[in-house]
Amino acid sequence: MDETTIKEKGGSAEDRTEEELSHRHGGLPEKDFDRFSLPVAPVVDFSVNLNPLGFPEEVRRQWPSLIQGIEAYPSLEGRGVTAYFQERLDLPPENILAGNGSTELIYLAPRALGFRRAAVMTPSYHDYYRASVLAGAEIMRVALSFEEDFRPPGKSVLDQALRGVDALWLGNPNNPTGILLTRGFVEDLALRHPDKWILVDEAFMPFVESWRRESMALRPLFPNVIVIHSLTKFYGLAGLRLGAATAHRDVIERLRRAKEPWTVNGVADRIAPLLLGAESYEEETRRLVSGERERMFEALSEIKGIRPFPSRANFLLCRYETGPGLDRLLRRLLAEGLYVRDCRNFPGLERDFFRAAVKTPAENDRLIRSLADQARGLNA
Ligand SMILES: Cc1ncc(COP(=O)(O)O)c(C=O)c1O
Repeated sequence: MDETTIKEKGGSAEDRTEEELSHRHGGLPEKDFDRFSLPVAPVVDFSVNLNPLGFPEEVRRQWPSLIQGIEAYPSLEGRGVTAYFQERLDLPPENILAGNGSTELIYLAPRALGFRRAAVMTPSYHDYYRASVLAGAEIMRVALSFEEDFRPPGKSVLDQALRGVDALWLGNPNNPTGILLTRGFVEDLALRHPDKWILVDEAFMPFVESWRRESMALRPLFPNVIVIHSLTKFYGLAGLRLGAATAHRDVIERLRRAKEPWTVNGVADRIAPLLLGAESYEEETRRLVSGERERMFEALSEIKGIRPFPSRANFLLCRYETGPGLDRLLRRLLAEGLYVRDCRNFPGLERDFFRAAVKTPAENDRLIRSLADQARGLNA
């Protein structure tokens, strides 16, 4: 248990530092323009992981009619979003709880299920940690190994981590590493630990070409597994906030009882069923993203000093390995209007990691070219 270690962290939310409980998301270039004393200018934002095609055309076409009805309250529980998941996953409504983006469900689950101790992988999405701590839970960190490209730890390490907790968070694919866990892996974990909650955040699963094979949301469902979904990344609708949790009906009932009413707004609720008709957009997205990701991976691997890590999602984790440090590289990229996600505030990624979304071929070319030029300049 050398690289893949388990670290414990106790205490309540009041004991946490401001930094630990802060929001840590991409999409904040203004902060870095200021930090690097550069004049604010437009950027190509590689720090947020949204569909490079933008949202489906049908949403634009229907936009004028979507305003109709906003004077009324929406359905209490997001009927339109539920209908999307019912059809997409072939599940009855009793197994689905719609929410205001997956974020609402990430925060609801620890509160509703009363987590006392939760395990999170390090590095992974910060809100698993924050949501658990705010619900009063202690956190156990399971460190993923950089030497093993952040692949999941072996059975014995996971079994040991789970012994002391009542819940384990898994990002699948994991953000920011892009590693995909197979359905077999998660099933095995759920079966070996029937008395633990396994929360699988599948926000980026729709970008995976084999999602129907790997998603834990398709039947058979497991009584201790909660799957968290987002429609905001894959359909490029982050401003509308669409998400859900799917699970065994008893679990959904527990979540429902603790949830606030009307959290899915009426426009989002009417848009969700329209998304079911966007098959060709979905196929094009997956084809584009996987092709561009592999092309970017190859091109970035060729740049001296840049090491990309294998990913199955619509982003690549990279490390700046030689040269004078990440700040110098980030500043030069930003001066050229290219903004990537500085990952040094993820535990385990302090040493010069950054993340870049997979965008359109022309945008990706710009990033590859600029990274090659800047790394060459800085290494010289
Ligand atoms: C892994 C992961 N899960 C969930 C979310 C939240 O997404 P949303 O609330 O828009 O569905 C994000 C956003 O960045 C994310 O990266």
